Amino acid sequence: MPVNEKIVSGVAILEIDSPPVNALSAEIRAGLAAGLKRACENDAIEGIVLTGARLFSAGADISEFGTDRIASPPVIWDLFDLFEASAKPVVAAVEGLVMGGGLEGILAADARIASPSTSFSLPEVKLGFIPGAGGSQRLTRLIGPEAAIDLMVKGNSIDAQKALALGIVDAIADDHLAAAVARAKELAASGERPTPNSCRADKVAGFGPDFFAAQRKKIAARTRGQVAPEAVIDAVEAAATLSPEEGMRFERALIQKLQNHPQHHALTYAFRAEKTVAKIPGITAQPRAIDRAAVIGAGTMGAGIAMCFANAGIDVVLTEVNEAALQRGIDNIGKTYDRAVARGIMTPAVADAARARIGSGVGLESIPPVDLVIEAIPEDMAMKKSLFATLDRLMPPETILGTNTSSLDIDEIASATSRPGKVVGTHFFAPANIMKLLENVRGGQTDQETIATVMALGKRLGKISVLAGNCDGFIGNRMLQYYTGSAEFMVERGIAPERIDAVAEEFGMPMGPIALRDLSGLDVAVLIRKERRAKLPEGARMSWVVEALHDAGRLGMKNGKGFYRHEDGKRLPDPEAAAIIDALAEREGYERWDLTDDQIRDRLFLPLANEGMKEIADGTAIRESDIDVAWVNGYGFPKHKGGPIYWARETGLGRVKAMAEELSAAFGPLWVPAPNLDG
Ligand code: COA
Repeated sequence: MPVNEKIVSGVAILEIDSPPVNALSAEIRAGLAAGLKRACENDAIEGIVLTGARLFSAGADISEFGTDRIASPPVIWDLFDLFEASAKPVVAAVEGLVMGGGLEGILAADARIASPSTSFSLPEVKLGFIPGAGGSQRLTRLIGPEAAIDLMVKGNSIDAQKALALGIVDAIADDHLAAAVARAKELAASGERPTPNSCRADKVAGFGPDFFAAQRKKIAARTRGQVAPEAVIDAVEAAATLSPEEGMRFERALIQKLQNHPQHHALTYAFRAEKTVAKIPGITAQPRAIDRAAVIGAGTMGAGIAMCFANAGIDVVLTEVNEAALQRGIDNIGKTYDRAVARGIMTPAVADAARARIGSGVGLESIPPVDLVIEAIPEDMAMKKSLFATLDRLMPPETILGTNTSSLDIDEIASATSRPGKVVGTHFFAPANIMKLLENVRGGQTDQETIATVMALGKRLGKISVLAGNCDGFIGNRMLQYYTGSAEFMVERGIAPERIDAVAEEFGMPMGPIALRDLSGLDVAVLIRKERRAKLPEGARMSWVVEALHDAGRLGMKNGKGFYRHEDGKRLPDPEAAAIIDALAEREGYERWDLTDDQIRDRLFLPLANEGMKEIADGTAIRESDIDVAWVNGYGFPKHKGGPIYWARETGLGRVKAMAEELSAAFGPLWVPAPNLDG
């Protein structure tokens, strides 16, 4: 039974029992409504306790979104109205997770008791809507507009102590169920019920238009183009300024509008994509346990990767070629933890425990036998091969050898070892301790267990693992070349860098492609491009604009001059850079383009999708949604647009093809349409 019923000292316990996360599916809603009715009709029952097996509930059943089941009676808000209107007191006893509709539901109860380890959240904004089953109204009236906005706009979790301080729960108890039964009996005996949260007025008095205008302004900059956060403010304003009935009606109209909005569909797709990405067809092997790891190279990436392990409770050894480089890495790690503590992201105890898990040593001989080694040394094939040959000699045969390369050939690296089955790409994104994506790359011989292990590792490190095939740039960077490459062609042809970046940022990218070039350094770009140019197919063109700026001594942000001038943390258009670009265009006889913002957007994102579709065609990516997951979590592609392939499908694959035809006519075979754009 999805809802278990039992009676404990005259109180009916309704326990949601629907693995894995007690989502409020049609069966659960029907079961709760039926149990409530039975309890109210049974004279031997004094009150009702709502609880969950293992955890309370992760909220509305996302698998019902877009299906008829979501409307199967009772719909979620009617169920919560039944709780509130119950003839007998209803008390919630919660533990584990209380999310979304789970939290909205208990706000309709008379009282709430939590076990100490419970966490609470309203993550609806992450799916492009708001708590719309009465929750936005009840929460606002219970804890006040400011705290309600904070919870609903961020969608982050709070612990039981915070929930108690805010008034979301009435008490914390080790035996939350017994405490809830006692509370239900107390309420029944007293014959008095608290004012329902939907009708409370004390916390919302005095909040007027000025307050809400300021809140809208505050979130607008942070939530760039997303509709749900703004809708949260609208709903809270309704709770604070309208009658309870009008407020509920307002919320209902809003939720219906949001449920039909493309952003809700894109975000729900993205949620499902992030679950699907972990499932690798054909891999049946179980992952190996990773208890000890080593990281080679204590630069920014290596230090960040070491912190990932330490933060996840895995002992890790960081090595470098000399004491000075090692010390620099360790100092950087120390500073990162100090900052995390200063900002309240970590408690001192948690930071100290993580620090204590990071051992260090100079030279490869200093690494003890570990389950996994990840190298994060410079991108030089000869160096990597020599390193892997040595590791192969030093490490036990079952140790997995991972490379953090962002583009080099995994098979060639593996060929330096006697264990190619245990060699795999583990590509982290900077800053490694923060960015969510782990792009794992399977070589031709990487074995099943190794793949299963690195995929599971991502989850353990709090990341999302995507599996890519072995090719230049793998899933993410291979596509990036076309996004930045197309941007450079536009610059060459007279479109101002700041316009291109503004269009990308307006689209929702954290940073435009030209600003990104300046950030990562034109010197670095020139080196990579030299390699690429050597391998260009017949008739293929790459822009020379990066080289032209670099030859004039412009290195990007690191010397304050790149495509832009960088001063006091500001990026400014630079006439000197413009003159260099104009001179190049004149010398080469480039035509001048006059593009609208929409055309600029298409020239950035349609080629990106084209290359992604080629990755599907040649098997580099398993699924279109894997590409979307990689771009959302590794490159900041706006999640509310689903991902580059989802966006392209919405926009029309025909447009991807037309753009590819135009670009390939101008710039050669690298830009030709993917073979699978007609479906
Ligand atoms: N409805 C339906 N299924 C859900 C769900 C929900 N609200 N929340 C999670 N699931 C499913 C997942 O799809 C996954 O299914 P799968 O095993 O078939 O892939 C399974 O539960 C486990 O979820 P997973 O995310 O892999 O486990 P986790 O322990 O890392 O995280 C949660 C669990 C609940 C924290 C996480 O899944 C989550 O944040 N869910 C979204 C909850 C939400 O947004 N609720 C509000 C809806 S209005």
